[in-house]
Amino acid sequence: MDFSTRLRRQSRSVSDAIEKLLVDQRTNSDLRAALKYTLGAPGKHVRSVLVLWCCELVSGQTNRDAEIASMAIEMVHTYSLVHDDLPAMDDDDMRRGLPTCHKAFDEATAILTGDALLTLAFEILATRIDKPATAVKLIRQLAKDAGADGMIAGQMADLKAEQTAGTEETLEYIHVNKTAKMFRCAAAMGAICGGASQKQFDSLCEYGLNIGLAFQIADDILDETASSEQLGKTAGKDLRAAKCTYPAVVGMDRAKEIQQKLTCAAMDALEPFGVKADTLRQLAKALLERTK
Ligand code: IPE
Ligand code: IPE
Ligand code: MG
Ligand code: MG
Ligand code: MG
Repeated sequence: MDFSTRLRRQSRSVSDAIEKLLVDQRTNSDLRAALKYTLGAPGKHVRSVLVLWCCELVSGQTNRDAEIASMAIEMVHTYSLVHDDLPAMDDDDMRRGLPTCHKAFDEATAILTGDALLTLAFEILATRIDKPATAVKLIRQLAKDAGADGMIAGQMADLKAEQTAGTEETLEYIHVNKTAKMFRCAAAMGAICGGASQKQFDSLCEYGLNIGLAFQIADDILDETASSEQLGKTAGKDLRAAKCTYPAVVGMDRAKEIQQKLTCAAMDALEPFGVKADTLRQLAKALLERTK
């Protein structure tokens, strides 16, 4: 099976698992509709796949804990997008090829849908992970990386940096926090589910952080170079909102150079795993070359 087919199938397995989980979820019917709408939209599920493949790398196979963790991280990621698109933040109309949550429903529903997704992620980790000690490790990792010293700090800095000249230092802070820590978190959660050694855990965290940084540079580049149809979200928004992005601060050529360097650093982190990490190498390469 070629790599892109594998990636597509693994992504599909995550959305199927989430769809099944939502069927059992007791909730208000309006909220259910919005949850189904946002989680059912065609996202790439990169972070979730990363959880599963890191678990597979360290233990030889994925397992039920990794499946739960892969759903939890997708829920937190999806919540971050629903809130990111709100008028008070990036004010976007399109996401994953569909009207954004607050456009399809309304703002209050979008805020509550985000809240519900964030809470549900922690609920499934607390209730469905086999061993309590594993659950605690996963919850701690996700809370740390998605929270006030992680993704939220990055989102705050991203908004504050709008309309400013921006330095490479600010930019790195924004990217590390708003995006790379969630990739690191995915790798860490996979490593935890697979019972990784400390050394394996550290290597996978290093890999995750670097591909996450490269991923956000690609996002910034594609915002300028790709079409809205291709991206499934409105292109050219960063320039209009005067966002602090890599192409804006260092220029397109330098942005691509940095992206290459980060991908190389990610590959280096996989060295101790030998050929067993080839799937993760292919993932890093695919994310570097992605067009959506
Ligand atoms: C978008 O993430 C937000 C960023 C951190 C760049 P993705 O590009 O992974 O979005 P989906 O989940 O595939 O829609
Ligand atoms: C969003 O970054 C990062 C998070 C949601 C944490 P962007 O604002 O660049 O993502 P897009 O371009 O809207 O997907
Ligand atoms: Mg944003
Ligand atoms: Mg945005
Ligand atoms: Mg963007």
